[in-house]
Amino acid sequence: MTQVIAMAGKGGTGKTTLAALIIRYLKKKGHRPILAVDADPSSNLADALGFRVKRSLGTAREEFFETKGNLPPGMTKETYLEMKLHEILVESQGLDLLVMGRPEGPGCYCYANNILRRHLDLLINNYPFVVMDNEAGMEHLSRRTTQGVDHLLFLSDYSIKGIRTVGKIRELIDELKLSITEKHLVVDRAPRELDPGFFQEIQNQRLNLLGMIPEDPFIFEYEMKEKPLLDLPDESSAVRVVAGMMEKIIKTGNRSEAIGNRL
Ligand SMILES: Nc1ncnc2c1ncn2[C@@H]1O[C@H](COP(=O)(O)OP(=O)(O)O)[C@@H](O)[C@H]1O
Ligand SMILES: [Mg+2]
Repeated sequence: MTQVIAMAGKGGTGKTTLAALIIRYLKKKGHRPILAVDADPSSNLADALGFRVKRSLGTAREEFFETKGNLPPGMTKETYLEMKLHEILVESQGLDLLVMGRPEGPGCYCYANNILRRHLDLLINNYPFVVMDNEAGMEHLSRRTTQGVDHLLFLSDYSIKGIRTVGKIRELIDELKLSITEKHLVVDRAPRELDPGFFQEIQNQRLNLLGMIPEDPFIFEYEMKEKPLLDLPDESSAVRVVAGMMEKIIKTGNRSEAIGNRL
Protein backbone atom coordinates (compact mmCIF):
# COMPACT_ATOMS: atom_id res chain seq x y z
CA MET A 1 0.00 0.00 0.00
CA THR A 2 1.30 3.40 -0.98
CA GLN A 3 1.35 6.12 1.67
CA VAL A 4 1.02 9.55 0.13
CA ILE A 5 2.24 12.56 2.10
CA ALA A 6 1.51 15.93 0.49
CA MET A 7 2.36 19.55 1.32
CA ALA A 8 0.04 22.53 0.93
CA GLY A 9 0.41 26.17 1.94
CA LYS A 10 1.28 29.51 0.42
CA GLY A 11 4.68 30.34 -1.05
CA GLY A 12 7.60 30.69 1.33
CA THR A 13 5.98 28.79 4.22
CA GLY A 14 8.47 25.90 4.02
CA LYS A 15 6.73 23.30 1.82
CA THR A 16 9.78 22.36 -0.23
CA THR A 17 11.97 22.32 2.88
CA LEU A 18 9.57 20.02 4.72
CA ALA A 19 9.14 17.76 1.68
CA ALA A 20 12.93 17.38 1.48
CA LEU A 21 13.20 16.73 5.23
CA ILE A 22 10.50 14.05 5.05
CA ILE A 23 12.26 12.40 2.10
CA ARG A 24 15.55 12.51 4.03
CA TYR A 25 13.84 10.82 6.98
CA LEU A 26 12.21 8.08 4.88
CA LYS A 27 15.45 7.39 3.01
CA LYS A 28 17.50 7.13 6.21
CA LYS A 29 14.95 4.80 7.75
CA GLY A 30 15.13 2.54 4.69
CA HIS A 31 11.51 3.17 3.65
CA ARG A 32 12.41 2.92 -0.02
CA PRO A 33 11.80 3.46 -2.86
CA ILE A 34 10.31 6.91 -2.49
CA LEU A 35 8.66 8.89 -5.27
CA ALA A 36 9.09 12.65 -4.89
CA VAL A 37 6.57 14.67 -6.90
CA ASP A 38 7.21 18.32 -7.55
CA ALA A 39 3.78 19.71 -8.33
CA ASP A 40 4.58 23.36 -7.67
CA PRO A 41 5.21 25.14 -11.00
CA SER A 42 7.53 27.59 -9.22
CA SER A 43 9.18 25.04 -7.03
CA ASN A 44 12.69 23.80 -6.58
CA LEU A 45 12.32 20.42 -4.96
CA ALA A 46 14.92 19.05 -7.37
CA ASP A 47 17.51 21.49 -5.98
CA ALA A 48 16.64 20.63 -2.40
CA LEU A 49 17.20 16.96 -3.28
CA GLY A 50 20.36 17.61 -5.32
CA PHE A 51 18.81 16.44 -8.62
CA ARG A 52 19.30 17.99 -12.03
CA VAL A 53 16.07 18.07 -13.95
CA LYS A 54 15.48 19.35 -17.45
CA ARG A 55 12.14 17.82 -18.34
CA SER A 56 8.75 17.71 -16.77
CA LEU A 57 5.35 16.18 -17.38
CA GLY A 58 4.51 19.46 -19.13
CA THR A 59 7.46 18.94 -21.50
CA ALA A 60 6.33 15.37 -22.21
CA ARG A 61 2.86 16.62 -23.09
CA GLU A 62 4.29 19.29 -25.41
CA GLU A 63 6.48 16.69 -27.13
CA PHE A 64 3.40 14.56 -27.69
CA PHE A 65 1.63 17.48 -29.39
CA GLU A 66 4.62 18.25 -31.56
CA THR A 67 4.47 14.76 -33.08
CA LYS A 68 1.01 15.70 -34.49
CA GLY A 69 0.14 12.03 -34.49
CA ASN A 70 3.27 10.97 -36.42
CA LEU A 71 4.41 8.38 -33.93
CA PRO A 72 7.14 5.78 -34.42
CA PRO A 73 5.81 2.71 -36.29
CA GLY A 74 3.78 0.35 -34.15
CA MET A 75 3.46 2.83 -31.31
CA THR A 76 0.07 3.94 -30.05
CA LYS A 77 -0.54 7.37 -28.52
CA GLU A 78 -0.96 5.65 -25.18
CA THR A 79 2.35 3.76 -25.27
CA TYR A 80 4.11 6.90 -26.53
CA LEU A 81 2.85 8.95 -23.56
CA GLU A 82 3.67 6.15 -21.15
CA MET A 83 7.20 6.02 -22.56
CA LYS A 84 7.52 9.81 -22.16
CA LEU A 85 6.38 9.61 -18.55
CA HIS A 86 9.10 7.08 -17.78
CA GLU A 87 11.68 9.14 -19.69
CA ILE A 88 11.13 12.21 -17.53
CA LEU A 89 11.28 10.29 -14.27
CA VAL A 90 14.63 11.03 -12.63
CA GLU A 91 15.82 7.86 -10.95
CA SER A 92 18.42 7.46 -8.25
CA GLN A 93 19.03 4.95 -5.50
CA GLY A 94 15.87 4.57 -3.48
CA LEU A 95 14.49 7.92 -4.64
CA ASP A 96 12.86 8.96 -7.91
CA LEU A 97 11.62 12.41 -8.83
CA LEU A 98 8.82 13.48 -11.11
CA VAL A 99 8.45 17.16 -11.98
CA MET A 100 4.98 18.19 -13.13
CA GLY A 101 6.04 21.50 -14.70
CA ARG A 102 3.79 24.33 -15.74
CA PRO A 103 0.10 23.77 -16.26
CA GLU A 104 -0.78 23.83 -19.97
CA GLY A 105 -1.93 26.95 -21.78
CA PRO A 106 -5.22 27.22 -23.66
CA GLY A 107 -6.07 24.35 -25.98
CA CYS A 108 -7.46 20.88 -25.67
CA TYR A 109 -5.11 18.69 -23.78
CA CYS A 110 -7.79 16.41 -22.34
CA TYR A 111 -6.80 13.33 -24.29
CA ALA A 112 -3.12 13.45 -23.26
CA ASN A 113 -4.05 14.44 -19.71
CA ASN A 114 -6.44 11.52 -19.30
CA ILE A 115 -3.80 9.05 -20.40
CA LEU A 116 -1.13 10.67 -18.28
CA ARG A 117 -3.43 10.66 -15.27
CA ARG A 118 -4.00 6.94 -15.61
CA HIS A 119 -0.30 6.19 -15.94
CA LEU A 120 0.62 8.51 -13.10
CA ASP A 121 -1.82 6.68 -10.84
CA LEU A 122 -0.20 3.37 -11.86
CA LEU A 123 3.29 4.77 -11.29
CA ILE A 124 2.43 5.97 -7.78
CA ASN A 125 1.26 2.48 -6.87
CA ASN A 126 4.82 1.19 -7.36
CA TYR A 127 6.15 3.07 -4.35
CA PRO A 128 5.52 2.51 -0.65
CA PHE A 129 5.97 6.27 -0.06
CA VAL A 130 5.12 9.25 -2.23
CA VAL A 131 5.98 12.77 -1.07
CA MET A 132 4.34 15.62 -2.98
CA ASP A 133 5.37 19.25 -2.91
CA ASN A 134 2.42 21.30 -4.14
CA GLU A 135 1.47 24.83 -4.96
CA ALA A 136 -0.78 26.52 -2.38
CA GLY A 137 -4.05 24.72 -2.96
CA MET A 138 -3.14 21.57 -4.91
CA GLU A 139 -5.31 22.49 -7.95
CA HIS A 140 -2.54 21.59 -10.38
CA LEU A 141 -1.99 18.19 -8.81
CA SER A 142 -5.66 17.36 -8.49
CA ARG A 143 -6.00 17.57 -12.27
CA ARG A 144 -3.12 15.16 -12.79
CA THR A 145 -3.88 12.24 -10.53
CA THR A 146 -6.89 10.71 -8.88
CA GLN A 147 -4.62 9.32 -6.19
CA GLY A 148 -5.80 10.02 -2.65
CA VAL A 149 -3.61 11.60 0.00
CA ASP A 150 -3.03 9.90 3.34
CA HIS A 151 -1.48 12.87 5.11
CA LEU A 152 -1.89 16.42 3.93
CA LEU A 153 0.45 18.79 5.76
CA PHE A 154 -0.56 22.45 5.80
CA LEU A 155 2.43 24.72 6.28
CA SER A 156 2.21 28.03 8.07
CA ASP A 157 4.68 30.54 9.41
CA TYR A 158 4.43 31.66 13.02
CA SER A 159 1.67 34.24 12.63
CA ILE A 160 -2.07 34.54 13.18
CA LYS A 161 -2.41 35.63 9.55
CA GLY A 162 -0.57 32.48 8.45
CA ILE A 163 -2.97 30.25 10.40
CA ARG A 164 -5.98 32.08 8.91
CA THR A 165 -4.51 31.59 5.43
CA VAL A 166 -4.26 27.86 6.12
CA GLY A 167 -7.95 27.94 7.10
CA LYS A 168 -8.77 29.47 3.67
CA ILE A 169 -6.53 27.06 1.74
CA ARG A 170 -8.21 24.17 3.53
CA GLU A 171 -11.61 25.41 2.32
CA LEU A 172 -10.30 25.55 -1.27
CA ILE A 173 -8.91 22.04 -1.00
CA ASP A 174 -12.18 20.77 0.47
CA GLU A 175 -13.94 22.12 -2.64
CA LEU A 176 -11.68 19.97 -4.85
CA LYS A 177 -13.20 16.93 -3.13
CA LEU A 178 -9.92 15.04 -3.09
CA SER A 179 -9.75 11.95 -1.00
CA ILE A 180 -7.64 12.98 2.00
CA THR A 181 -7.42 10.78 5.06
CA GLU A 182 -5.78 13.14 7.55
CA LYS A 183 -4.97 16.84 7.57
CA HIS A 184 -2.35 18.34 9.84
CA LEU A 185 -0.85 21.72 10.52
CA VAL A 186 2.92 22.20 10.62
CA VAL A 187 4.35 25.54 11.75
CA ASP A 188 7.74 26.35 10.29
CA ARG A 189 10.31 28.70 11.82
CA ALA A 190 8.55 28.61 15.16
CA PRO A 191 10.23 30.40 18.09
CA ARG A 192 10.84 28.70 21.45
CA GLU A 193 8.25 30.77 23.29
CA LEU A 194 4.80 30.72 21.75
CA ASP A 195 2.01 33.20 22.27
CA PRO A 196 -1.25 31.76 23.68
CA GLY A 197 -3.14 33.78 21.03
CA PHE A 198 -1.41 31.72 18.36
CA PHE A 199 -2.71 28.46 19.84
CA GLN A 200 -6.14 30.02 20.16
CA GLU A 201 -6.21 30.77 16.43
CA ILE A 202 -5.18 27.18 15.65
CA GLN A 203 -8.20 26.08 17.67
CA ASN A 204 -10.46 28.67 16.05
CA GLN A 205 -9.53 27.31 12.63
CA ARG A 206 -10.03 23.73 13.92
CA LEU A 207 -6.56 22.69 12.81
CA ASN A 208 -4.74 19.69 14.09
CA LEU A 209 -1.18 20.71 15.05
CA LEU A 210 1.33 17.99 14.16
CA GLY A 211 4.51 19.85 15.00
CA MET A 212 6.63 22.95 14.88
CA ILE A 213 9.94 23.22 13.07
CA PRO A 214 12.42 25.66 14.59
CA GLU A 215 14.48 28.10 12.56
CA ASP A 216 17.51 25.98 11.75
CA PRO A 217 20.92 27.50 10.96
CA PHE A 218 21.87 24.33 9.06
CA ILE A 219 18.99 24.88 6.59
CA PHE A 220 20.11 28.46 6.10
CA GLU A 221 23.70 27.39 5.52
CA TYR A 222 22.75 24.59 3.08
CA GLU A 223 20.54 26.98 1.13
CA MET A 224 23.34 29.53 0.85
CA LYS A 225 25.91 26.96 -0.20
CA GLU A 226 23.38 25.24 -2.52
CA LYS A 227 23.88 21.93 -0.79
CA PRO A 228 21.03 19.37 -0.94
CA LEU A 229 18.92 19.20 2.22
CA LEU A 230 19.12 15.41 1.97
CA ASP A 231 22.69 15.78 3.27
CA LEU A 232 21.70 17.70 6.43
CA PRO A 233 23.43 16.31 9.51
CA ASP A 234 21.55 14.33 12.16
CA GLU A 235 22.10 17.09 14.72
CA SER A 236 20.02 19.57 12.70
CA SER A 237 17.10 20.58 14.93
CA ALA A 238 14.69 20.55 11.95
CA VAL A 239 15.78 17.00 11.06
CA ARG A 240 15.05 15.85 14.62
CA VAL A 241 11.65 17.52 14.81
CA VAL A 242 10.56 16.10 11.44
CA ALA A 243 11.60 12.60 12.55
CA GLY A 244 9.28 12.98 15.57
CA MET A 245 6.42 14.08 13.32
CA MET A 246 6.86 11.19 10.90
CA GLU A 247 6.97 8.68 13.72
CA LYS A 248 3.55 9.94 14.78
CA ILE A 249 1.88 9.60 11.39
CA ILE A 250 3.41 7.02 9.08
CA LYS A 251 2.67 3.34 9.16
CA THR A 252 5.82 1.29 8.94
CA GLY A 253 5.87 -2.23 7.60
CA ASN A 254 8.45 -4.74 6.57
CA ARG A 255 11.29 -3.08 4.68
CA SER A 256 12.08 -5.91 2.27
CA GLU A 257 8.39 -6.16 1.48
CA ALA A 258 8.41 -2.48 0.55
CA ILE A 259 11.35 -2.94 -1.82
CA GLY A 260 9.83 -6.06 -3.33
CA ASN A 261 6.68 -4.14 -4.24
CA ARG A 262 8.54 -2.10 -6.81
CA LEU A 263 8.08 -3.04 -10.44
N1 LIG B 1 13.13 25.87 9.57
C1 LIG B 1 13.83 26.66 8.74
N2 LIG B 1 15.00 27.20 9.14
C2 LIG B 1 15.71 27.99 8.30
N3 LIG B 1 15.33 28.31 7.05
C3 LIG B 1 14.18 27.80 6.60
C4 LIG B 1 13.38 26.94 7.41
N4 LIG B 1 12.29 26.57 6.68
C5 LIG B 1 12.40 27.17 5.48
N5 LIG B 1 13.53 27.91 5.41
C6 LIG B 1 13.96 28.72 4.25
O1 LIG B 1 12.87 29.56 3.89
C7 LIG B 1 12.76 29.69 2.48
C8 LIG B 1 11.38 29.28 2.02
O2 LIG B 1 11.21 27.88 2.26
P1 LIG B 1 10.61 26.91 1.14
O3 LIG B 1 10.66 25.53 1.72
O4 LIG B 1 11.28 27.12 -0.17
O5 LIG B 1 9.09 27.42 1.07
P2 LIG B 1 7.95 27.06 0.00
O6 LIG B 1 8.34 25.79 -0.67
O7 LIG B 1 6.69 26.91 0.81
O8 LIG B 1 7.87 28.22 -0.94
C9 LIG B 1 13.89 28.86 1.89
O9 LIG B 1 14.96 29.71 1.59
C10 LIG B 1 14.27 27.90 3.01
O10 LIG B 1 15.63 27.52 2.96
MG1 LIG C 1 8.54 25.40 -2.72
